[in-house]
Amino acid sequence: MKIKQLRLENVGPFSSLAVELDAAVTVLIGNNGAGKTTILKSLATSLSWFVARFRSEKGSGSAIDEEQILNGANAASVAMAVVDGGEPYEWTLSKTRIGRKNGHPSQLNNATRLADVYRTSLSSNEQANVPLIAFYPVERVVLDIPLKIREKHTFQQLDGYDNSLSQGVDFRRFFEWFREREDSENESSIPEETLKAIESTLDADTWNTLVKGGLISPRDRQLTAVRAAIAHFMPGFSNLRVRRKPRLYMSIDKGAETLNVSQLSQGEKSLMALVGDIARRLAMMNPGLANPLEGEGIVLIDEVDMHLHPKWARSIVQRLTNTFPNCQFVLTTHSPLVISDSKDILVYALENGELVKVPPLYGQDVNTVLLEAMDTHVRNALVAQRLNDLLDAIHDRKLDDARRMARDLEAELPAQHVELAKARLLLRKEELRLAKN
Ligand SMILES: Nc1ncnc2c1ncn2[C@@H]1O[C@H](COP(=O)(O)OP(=O)(O)O)[C@@H](O)[C@H]1O
Ligand SMILES: [Mg+2]
Repeated sequence: MKIKQLRLENVGPFSSLAVELDAAVTVLIGNNGAGKTTILKSLATSLSWFVARFRSEKGSGSAIDEEQILNGANAASVAMAVVDGGEPYEWTLSKTRIGRKNGHPSQLNNATRLADVYRTSLSSNEQANVPLIAFYPVERVVLDIPLKIREKHTFQQLDGYDNSLSQGVDFRRFFEWFREREDSENESSIPEETLKAIESTLDADTWNTLVKGGLISPRDRQLTAVRAAIAHFMPGFSNLRVRRKPRLYMSIDKGAETLNVSQLSQGEKSLMALVGDIARRLAMMNPGLANPLEGEGIVLIDEVDMHLHPKWARSIVQRLTNTFPNCQFVLTTHSPLVISDSKDILVYALENGELVKVPPLYGQDVNTVLLEAMDTHVRNALVAQRLNDLLDAIHDRKLDDARRMARDLEAELPAQHVELAKARLLLRKEELRLAKN
């Protein structure tokens, strides 16, 4: 399942916006208040209808908040186009202000139709895989690491959708789930000696096929997936596990040291929680895959660089795509490092309610990215506008105005500014022509 396009009408700061999302990774950049979060939230709201109707036939997803309707407009709508199994599906969610009229009701038949495809497939095959859909808002930061786990849960496949669009990282659930899997891992895994004995009688290929097919499981496949994901993201960290004494807590090895996860830095915690949450959900949702991290899904992460050391920010996109190769990511960031170090990503800059596709910046140094994509966009637009006004004034023979505008621009722009030099020449030409007449 992949999102192809999102269209917003009168949502947040946007009166009308279409976002093509035809890439494995889309990154949105823009100043504060540009509308990045609005786009992610709209995607989450729209996707919630698929999730709700997957869980039950008449389920309801989230509504567009009344507050989100563009000030002055009567109604807002969010339309989404997705492709699944080569088939297109498109649905529209609308919201009308209380006491107002709107000619366009929601059209959610296709969300129902798509959900039906998955329900049919699960009904005929318990091992069928289902797509992960998750939104990690900025508020995911808070990592409430529980000291005590009160209850034991059993986790079902579709519990992979629990709070996945509303709450972001749920570390308590992660902890509970981890403990449950560990218990069953300890109970059910074949004793080490037995495994060794089996392995010694088989050639490597057969052994690997059996392990991949899940017929021999030295360790719990879901836990293995989560451990592997964390190892990919956090080199030097290993052996995440639940400790039962003196009380229940989760520990991880950092180099030679064993730490309680609550002792990790904020950056380490939030990365571990994010990656752990994605991996856990994929593991739950893809019982049919030898490597559940290869499951499909859509993952939305707001301010993906939040709390990250520059070294980690630099590699985050690459690690996401390497670790979760079949997930589609829509990310926002304020960090030039996130976009300068990633190949094959689609980058959009948001500005004044519009979207501009940013040319590839892979391999550029940070200053260039800052200058070209993140900072001067706005200034360029302003300068461009003023240069245009200058040319208009020359064209309209308002030479006093033109001279004043040129002087003002000269005071601000570098001496060798080409466009300004050209305008200066044109102005001179007009002055000479006027003098002749
Ligand atoms: N109902 C609305 N009508 C008009 N503008 C809105 C409305 N709701 C939010 N906004 C504008 O949208 C901005 C919020 O956008 P947001 O998506 O949070 O930006 P970003 O995540 O890029 O910082 C606010 O700064 C506000 O100006
Ligand atoms: Mg935001």
